[in-house]
Amino acid sequence: MDRNLALEFVRVTEAAALACGMWVGKGDRDGADQAACDAMRSTLNQLDIRGTIVIGEGERDEAPMLYIGEEVGKGNGHTVEIAVDPLEGTNLCANGLANAISVLAAATVGEGSLMHAPDCYMDKLVVGEAARGAIDITLPPAANLRMIAKCLGKDVAELTIGVLDRPRHEKLISEIRGAGARIRLITDGDITLAIAAIDPLTGIDALMGTGGAPEGVITAAAVRCVGGDMQARLVFRNDEERARAEKMVKGNVDRVLQTEDLASGSVMFAATGITSGDLLKGVRYVADGAYTESIVMRSLSGTVRNIHTRHRFEAAPTY
Ligand code: FBP
Repeated sequence: MDRNLALEFVRVTEAAALACGMWVGKGDRDGADQAACDAMRSTLNQLDIRGTIVIGEGERDEAPMLYIGEEVGKGNGHTVEIAVDPLEGTNLCANGLANAISVLAAATVGEGSLMHAPDCYMDKLVVGEAARGAIDITLPPAANLRMIAKCLGKDVAELTIGVLDRPRHEKLISEIRGAGARIRLITDGDITLAIAAIDPLTGIDALMGTGGAPEGVITAAAVRCVGGDMQARLVFRNDEERARAEKMVKGNVDRVLQTEDLASGSVMFAATGITSGDLLKGVRYVADGAYTESIVMRSLSGTVRNIHTRHRFEAAPTY
């Protein structure tokens, strides 16, 4: 993955965040999502890439832009597969709550690839580099907590596990608490929580539980970049979802997916904060522009960059 390309991708998530930032707290999920999509798509189309959206806003017949299979970029330069979530945490943005981000992962075709995940759920277990190789999603949470704690040189009681606050996680939550670990419950946005879990400085030691499968692939790209570990399993609510996965995913759709199954080879990850949260500060507007905070990582170098940008609006922005 080209170094400059990684920085170009940050401009894409910045543009989406800047456009979407105007919708924070306005209670309009669709307006916010549309603003982020429009800005992300038009910025992607200014890049010297031959890009194909492999994870986006949905199928061609249900999403007018950034749909699966849409070609983006100027049609020259690197051939890349792109997974986007222009607004991760639609409710968070609409309600002005922490942790809404704009995010993108990419793989240069020939050097890497991203799983073409169907729009179903995924059971996820994500840890940072220190616990790589020590997790097993087929074991009960308590067993994983013991292994993670050992790798981190902590007691289980000192661990904090990120979990989406959903009724489906009632058993998981009581098992984590039963094992003595602490929980950081969030209402939405498991990509942010997973990225926090692979960063040793955030105080979150792992992500556990079920969230979106597309979000899982984007998460895996970040995990690859920092050398963390992720295991996952697709979760189907009905036969239709299973049949769709069987068409899209190579191999047994019930198998345990390793990080490399989700994002392999040379990949990159970029995200910009929309609202301030565990990982990034959100968009802050000033008289003649705005400030954003982003993170960009490449698996090839393992470099993680935090980018603070001052954007100057020469003319009034057209939100
Ligand atoms: P959106 O931005 O599409 O609303 O997704 C937010 C999110 O919380 C993801 O982070 C998570 O993976 C997924 O939704 C969980 O799905 P559900 O809300 O159905 O439990």
